[in-house]
Amino acid sequence: MTRTPPTVRKALLTLHLVTSLGWLGADLVLLALGVAVLRGTDADVVYPVAALIGTTLFAPLAVAVWVVGVASALLSPWKLFRYRWVLVKLLITTVMVGLVLFLLTPNLRAAGDLGATLPARDRADLVIAPAVSTSLMIIATVLSTYKPWGRMRPAGPAARRGRPAVAGRA
Ligand code: HEM
Repeated sequence: MTRTPPTVRKALLTLHLVTSLGWLGADLVLLALGVAVLRGTDADVVYPVAALIGTTLFAPLAVAVWVVGVASALLSPWKLFRYRWVLVKLLITTVMVGLVLFLLTPNLRAAGDLGATLPARDRADLVIAPAVSTSLMIIATVLSTYKPWGRMRPAGPAARRGRPAVAGRA
């Protein structure tokens, strides 16, 4: 099988880090805005900003993280279904992308439109959702650096010759 040139690998990894950790940063901003409203900051000011960040930054980054993450896996010796840590990240990210696109983004849009008239339960949701997704992204980051649990199936002799280094640098 042809190996991906190191320059392409490095460019992809850079893109993966910028998109995924940028996504985490945008999530923390949404969390801060959600908490600010619960602490009394004017919802008519904060929710339109949260809606803007959600639709122009958070949702597009969710799709970018998924696409670049999958490309990083497929074009590296890690592959997509070879190591448990990669598969778990794929599952976590896929679920999150679905929730962001079909639940959180519509809720943020509604909050932007309703402002101070948004019901209290929905205000709490705009704190809980970013808190949960931030936690999942931190788990994904820890999985990326520690790379736990090993391979799904034992490597054959050919795969052993080309396997990623033990320290985690593929
Ligand atoms: C579709 C979902 C994802 C897949 C398939 C995936 C896959 C991968 C792969 C294969 C690598 C190693 C790349 C290489 O060495 O060339 C990697 C690195 C990394 N990923 Fe992901 N990833 C995904 C989502 C995420 C998310 C959501 C985050 C964090 C918010 C994240 C954070 C990182 C970090 C920090 C590294 C660098 C680890 C290192 O170089 O030691 N990834 N990812």
